[in-house]
Amino acid sequence: MGKLEGRTAVVTGGASGLGAAMVTRFVEEGARVVATDIDRERGEVLAAELGANCTFIEHDVADEEGWARVIATASGFGNFDVLVNNAGITIMGSIESLTLADWQKTMDVDLVGVFLGCKYAVAAMKETGGGSIVNISSAAGLRASADLTAYNTAKAAVTMLTQSVALHCGRAGYGIRCNSVHPGVIRTPILDKVMAQVEDGEGMMAGFVAQHPIGHIGETDDIVNVVLYLTSPEARFATGAPFIVDGGLSL
Ligand SMILES: NC(=O)c1ccc[n+]([C@@H]2O[C@H](COP(=O)([O-])OP(=O)(O)OC[C@H]3O[C@@H](n4cnc5c(N)ncnc54)[C@H](O)[C@@H]3O)[C@@H](O)[C@H]2O)c1
Repeated sequence: MGKLEGRTAVVTGGASGLGAAMVTRFVEEGARVVATDIDRERGEVLAAELGANCTFIEHDVADEEGWARVIATASGFGNFDVLVNNAGITIMGSIESLTLADWQKTMDVDLVGVFLGCKYAVAAMKETGGGSIVNISSAAGLRASADLTAYNTAKAAVTMLTQSVALHCGRAGYGIRCNSVHPGVIRTPILDKVMAQVEDGEGMMAGFVAQHPIGHIGETDDIVNVVLYLTSPEARFATGAPFIVDGGLSL
């Protein structure tokens, strides 16, 4: 029997990279998955590949009305008890070079989207006996870089948002756990998008590898395994915790 047999999960940013890897593994583990993304084309292709247990919904995580639709769909499948707030963007820029528009865009996707996801999931999960919310932050939420001003700030805020949600749900006795995961650099399409923003992309990649004491960057499975653990009863005593899976990057 799969680890998520008979359960329903929502994964945001599910069309690409880490999100697509989670959606795929969750379906393999028996879950009914609602994958959301702004990238309809990739999302629909993935859902078609995975078959009846995967439903794709086009949704921008910063769109509050859309969240009601996403959660209603997941609740309609029954046993909705897993949400992974995974969608994210990285816009590079220092305090001098970053524009207000880029700052606000980053906050909308990387922080407001997580806030809304937690808010709507708690409202649904508290009615059905609880669940597990996993917020994908970053090692960059623990350690700053001069050129990641907005991303560092949003990802650090996700750590604190996670703790506040965990405390609230504990106090209310909802049976809802909320944890954050902090990946190091992982081989996904987001890396191409970051490298495209600088002159020496290859040099940047070599620098990424050098920053990881373990000697290499990570693969999607390194993160999916931890997320799967956090959704399972084995993690029943874990809440409000930052799970750092970064090859030592944040040390
Ligand atoms: N890859 C890494 O090195 C790394 C490291 C640390 C943290 N993370 C975090 O992991 C998460 C997934 O990143 P990834 O590497 O898979 O990137 P990715 O670019 O491959 O995938 C991100 C997905 O989010 C979607 N998305 C973007 N804006 C959205 C919005 N407004 N609403 C809904 N979906 C939206 C994109 O279309 C894309 O499918 C992000 O939160 C990222 O910050 C990634």
